[in-house]
This record gives sequence, C-alpha cells and structure tokens, in this order.
Amino acid sequence: MDSIIIEGGTVLEGTVVLGGSKNAALPVIISSLLTADECSYGRVPALRDVSTTLRLLSRLGVTIEKDVLAGGRLELTADKVREIEAPYDLVKTMRASFLVLGPLLARFGEARVSTPGGCAIGSRPVDLHLHGLERLGARIRQDHGYIDARAGELKGADILLDFPSVGATENLMMAATLALGETVIRNAAREPEITELAGVLTKMGARVNGAGGEVIRIEGVRELHGMSHEMSSDRIETGTFMVGAALTRGNVLIEDARAEDLEAFIVKLRETGARVEAEPGGLRVAGNGRVRGTDVATLPYPGFPTDLQAQMMVLSAVSEGTSVITENIFENRFMHVQELNRMGARISLDGNRATVRGVAGLSGAPVMATDLRASVSLVLAGLVAKGVTEVSRVYHLDRGYENVEGKLARLGADIRRVNRDG
Ligand code: EPZ
Repeated sequence: MDSIIIEGGTVLEGTVVLGGSKNAALPVIISSLLTADECSYGRVPALRDVSTTLRLLSRLGVTIEKDVLAGGRLELTADKVREIEAPYDLVKTMRASFLVLGPLLARFGEARVSTPGGCAIGSRPVDLHLHGLERLGARIRQDHGYIDARAGELKGADILLDFPSVGATENLMMAATLALGETVIRNAAREPEITELAGVLTKMGARVNGAGGEVIRIEGVRELHGMSHEMSSDRIETGTFMVGAALTRGNVLIEDARAEDLEAFIVKLRETGARVEAEPGGLRVAGNGRVRGTDVATLPYPGFPTDLQAQMMVLSAVSEGTSVITENIFENRFMHVQELNRMGARISLDGNRATVRGVAGLSGAPVMATDLRASVSLVLAGLVAKGVTEVSRVYHLDRGYENVEGKLARLGADIRRVNRDG
C-alpha cells in the first residue's frame, strides 16, 4: 500500500489546473445506460472511483471505447447490455454504483443491484431511492443483500423526498427520463452535480426542468440518443486546494474554478481571514497572516458542503480562537479528528459537534487515512506541521484526488509518494 510523506513548512504558490468533477462524472457516465447510442465524455478524471464505475459498466455489457487514463477522453456505448445485475463486490467498494438501478430499470424494465451497505462515514441507507422508484411503479424486493426491481414500464409520479438526497435525486431523475408522463421530484437535491447531470440528460433528448431548484419536473420520452459532454471542474478538489493556500499563507491561482459553486464555503474561508478573488483565469486564494477561527455547519447545497468539512477543520485547528464544526449530513464524519489530535490539534467531539481550540502549530506524525476527505485533510495538516507526516492507506485518497502529491509538489510542497509493500 502507498503512503504519502510530507515535510511541513512550505508555502503553496503558483497556478494549478485541477481535474474534472468526480461527483458529477460518476452519475454522468452511468447515464450512458439510458441509450444504445455512443456517448462521449471529456475531462473525465482518472480516479479509482471512475475505474470502479467503468468496471461495473463493462460487466453490464457497456462497450468502453477509450480509457480515462488516455487523457480523460471516454466513449461508452450501451447497445449490447446483457446483464442487469450490479454485484456486491463492486457496489460495496463504491456506493455510487447504486446509481445504475434507475437507468437499468428505465431502459430494461428490471435490475438486480446489491445494497451498498454502510461505509466509514455512516450507514447511508437507500430508502429514498427505493421509495421514489416504487412511486414510479417499480416492484421492489430485497433478498440476500440485493435489491430486485421490476417494472413493465415506469409511469411518471409526484415524488417528495424526505431529505434532499443527492444520489436519490440522480437515480430518480435518470429513471424518470424514460417513464410514461410527467415526474415531479420535490425537495430535490440542488448540488451543481445535479444541474450537470440534468444538462447531460437534456443533451441526450430528455425533458428536464428545474434542476438546481427544489422541484425538478421530467417529461418522459420514448428513447434517448448519444451526445458529447465535457465534465466541469471538481468543486471539492478546488475547495481543498483553496484551504491549502490559506493554510500555508501562500498565493495560488486555481484555474477554471467557479466561485458560484462554492459560495457558502468561500464566505467561511473569508471569515478565517483568507483573501479569495475571482480572476479571468479562475479563483485566486491568498493567506493573510494568522488564521482566525470560524464556526461551520454542513448543510445540503447551497449550504456549506460536507465534503469540505474535514479540510476546514484543519484550518480551524491552527487558527486563533475556538471554532465549532457541526456535521449535519453524515453521522460519523469525524474520523480525521483523532488523527489530527495526534498531530497536536485540540479537538473534542460531542455527537455531531466538534469543538476546535486553535493551536499555534501542529507536529508531524504517522497518521492513517480512513475515508476520502479525511485523508486529504491529513495531507493538508502535514503541509503546516513541524517535521515529517506520513499518511498511510492513501488508496482512500486516490478514490477522489488525481495525483494530489504531484499537484501540491508543483505548488512548492515537499511531498512524495512511497510504496510500503514488502
Ligand atoms: C453524494 O453522496 C456524494 N457522493 C458525497 O460525496 C456527498 O458527501 C453527498 O452526496 C452529500 O453531498 C457522490 O456524489 C458520488 P446523499 P450520496 O444521498 O448521494 C442519507 C465524497 O467525499 N440518505 O445526499 O450518497 C445518507 O445516509 C462523497 O465525494 C438516506 O437516509 O449522499 C446521508 O446521511 C462522500 N436515505 C444523507 O442522506 C437515502 O436513501 C446524504 O446522503 C439516501 C441518503
């Protein structure tokens, strides 16, 4: 297994070009199941989660013309799908695999998908996905850890989500594109990834209105056709590098970054004292002396994104004053806390609330990654810790960050990857 070793104390400076959005790319490439035509995608990030999704699509019978490792270009054709089962060995490694349920059901009338089970950050049920599909007329059975779904033809329905679940909104939006009549999804997730998926479905001939708002209306059509799409930049990777620039009191231009996708985060980052300016080429972030503490509460979009909570906690850990960070989306998304405390942070937990007492500095230590965003927060902490930090089990990191050590090194970080096998 690989580790990443960081010698703290460097300042991040320069310009960085980040990758395509992981959380948009996964549902978007899965939507290729909705048509027999070729779909072409650009700027697909070369990530473990993308490779896992391609393995699943290939197992279902989707033809993969180009591989993402060849510069982010990908062509998929689902004209020979022969399998409707998403097996446990793939779904357990990546929850987003569950998003094949809606498209398979809509296109082929049946699907057998393993339930994803829990993960490091929480139980993460799929009840909202299943409730919505039943509203569309699917007959759902659960046995041996699998969801068995059948539907002659899905029929449009009015669906109210108890919680604006990103995945449930994506699954139901895709299923509804081929249902008979109109589907209304109320209390829908509003994340930019939803808007991007809706844009791709529209390019495929679907009739989707209201994405990005609380009510999405989809008028079903008989079939969808192929299209070409360039993925947008990854807003969570962008926020991660913005924290790195503020944390190290550096000055970094993040090319092609969109402030409008990160408004709540940028408000909070500015409250810590960082300077954030939109420029023609992207977003510029500069540190500004000692970091000030600020309180954060994660919420569904447009609130503060849970995927940037761990990164923000590192900033709070070395700030002046005390910050309270409340995690409202997942029930166990503080796995980074004990590792940060081993580096000298002073963070105490009380349920979904973390109290972070700022310290003058952190000290490097061997730490262990547990989930994707916790992993990158440990790398960020290593950038400012005194001495050497070794982050082990970075396969968690590789799920959502492409060559993070290379990008940070080009900005001046003293960072390298080592293989610890044998
Ligand atoms: C997506 O996960 C993202 N993943 C997550 O990013 C992100 O943290 C999350 O949305 C919230 O923004 C992808 O897009 C691939 P949810 P998803 O359904 O769809 C509960 C990362 O680090 N819930 O909005 O799984 C659930 O348990 C990952 O890139 C139900 O109760 O998130 C959770 O507490 C981590 N029943 C909350 O809703 C359901 O049927 C949010 O889940 C579905 C969800």
